Amino acid sequence: MSLKWWQTALFYQIYPRSFADGNGDGIGDFKGITEKLDYLKTLGVDALWLSPHFPSPNWDCGYDVSDYCGVAPEYGTLDEFKTFLHEAHAREIRVILDLVLNHTSDEHPWFLESKASRDNPKADWYVWQDTPPNNWQSCFDGDAWTYAPERNQYYYHYFMKQQPDLNWRNPAVKQAMWDAVRFWLDLGVDGYRLDAIGTIYEDPTLPSHSVPMNLAQLRREAELARTPEDHKRSRKNWHNMFKNQWGQPGLHELMKELRTILDEYEGDRMLVGEDDDIAYMGDGKDELHLVFNFPLMHTEFITPAHIRRNQAQRLARLEALPTRGWGCNTLGNHDCSRIRTRFGRGTNALELAKLNAALVLTLRGTPFLYNGEEIGMTDLLITDPTLLRDTMATWYYESAVNELKVPQAEAAHHAGQMSRDKNRTPHQWANSPNGGFSPAGITPWLPVNPNYAEGINVREQENDPASLLAYYKRLIHVRKQTPALIEGEYRPVQEKARTYFAFLRETPIQTVLVVLNYSARARTLRFSLEGFHTALPLFSTEPMKKEETLSKIHVAPYEVLLVELR
Ligand code: GLC
Repeated sequence: MSLKWWQTALFYQIYPRSFADGNGDGIGDFKGITEKLDYLKTLGVDALWLSPHFPSPNWDCGYDVSDYCGVAPEYGTLDEFKTFLHEAHAREIRVILDLVLNHTSDEHPWFLESKASRDNPKADWYVWQDTPPNNWQSCFDGDAWTYAPERNQYYYHYFMKQQPDLNWRNPAVKQAMWDAVRFWLDLGVDGYRLDAIGTIYEDPTLPSHSVPMNLAQLRREAELARTPEDHKRSRKNWHNMFKNQWGQPGLHELMKELRTILDEYEGDRMLVGEDDDIAYMGDGKDELHLVFNFPLMHTEFITPAHIRRNQAQRLARLEALPTRGWGCNTLGNHDCSRIRTRFGRGTNALELAKLNAALVLTLRGTPFLYNGEEIGMTDLLITDPTLLRDTMATWYYESAVNELKVPQAEAAHHAGQMSRDKNRTPHQWANSPNGGFSPAGITPWLPVNPNYAEGINVREQENDPASLLAYYKRLIHVRKQTPALIEGEYRPVQEKARTYFAFLRETPIQTVLVVLNYSARARTLRFSLEGFHTALPLFSTEPMKKEETLSKIHVAPYEVLLVELR
């Protein structure tokens, strides 16, 4: 079987602002990332996805781009980017960038020109109306239509008002964006992660939504939801409020156009969409190479039943494409609570973190890790609203207090919880001031989680064979050495088991059984699999045994066990 690099690679997402501060100013940068490439190589990373590194006023932490062909000065220069790319490639690490298509920053020259008058050459590059044509909300900060006095008109923004939506129905917009796409491809980047593609087009008839609330009220409803019915109602209201603003016709044609550009380049450049809809893979080779399996992580608890259901649905859909599709599994990114916090249940958080890492690293499909998960970084709840940098949360704090009259302390707590700052804090490199991210005496852009002093840091874990970091390295190494774990088919076994998840990865020449025991109970499992009798341990969280018979496999509480069948 010949797989492409993006099918066999282990991806690692870097959030540039928080990864490594090479010049000691409290903000991550390319010098820092470059210095850490050996760390990433040793971890076993094959490809990096960088969250936006472009110049930006940072209303949305870089997802409001003001120059698509530049490097944010705080991250370095274009030459430093080139050095980084060169050094990554020298280590056989590929690099994909974040491409924000839906919107620009309101400080982007395109928007400044567009809003200057109604008849300038870029007048039609954004979505303008004389009066707000409907009650649409922005999913970040209230009304989706914002007034621009220069034109005496309103512009549309799905996200913050500092993130005006581009008018993708204008061919000049496409041309300009495709030029930027080529700029980085020409420099040698290996592809793109496509931001928020679903939001690119809106319903052209601009119908109002029928949810009797605004965004602040909708968020408050979600926050106060307690019963399953409450949650269901709140999810339904979210859907109904935004359904006219995403997933509209035109997207597939656009993705095809973009794919054509990538295919002009050598080296199998790739696209991964921030969307879970397999329809974005087109016929399997004419749109995106990958879409994320978000349904796997969109759950309160990861349970064996949830995983099996998820895999059955996803793999069937991928299978059904004219050219068979390839999966892409992840449990965390810069937009959501960290894996260890989110899926840990109190005292067993570390064991669950190991199980969940093993899940992503052994399922069929390309795995994506989020920086910091390999050392078990946790969320940091920032309850002082003045320290929040995720302005979506600041906006919510203010509207909760001023408009909804929520008590300040309660609003601050909720803002800290919904803010994405909690999962974007600086990488913890050592048990030293600022967690070794920035020098002592410097204030990093977001507070460092003080638990760097409790062993959650790279340096101490590098020296401890029992650490989570050592666990990741060992497991990633086994994955790389075991063809069935990369290319093998997926076959669930013992599908009724509620507390453990067992499945095979099989190629014509190798069969691996993976057992993830999601419970505090030790057990003896009996597998009867035609043609196989013995199990040679490949990996375990427990001391490894020499060999087991398939009819009697002992698994310890929370054990991760990988065996090759003979
Ligand atoms: C994507 C990004 C998120 C950003 C949003 C708007 O969802 O992952 O961080 O805020 O798009 O660009």
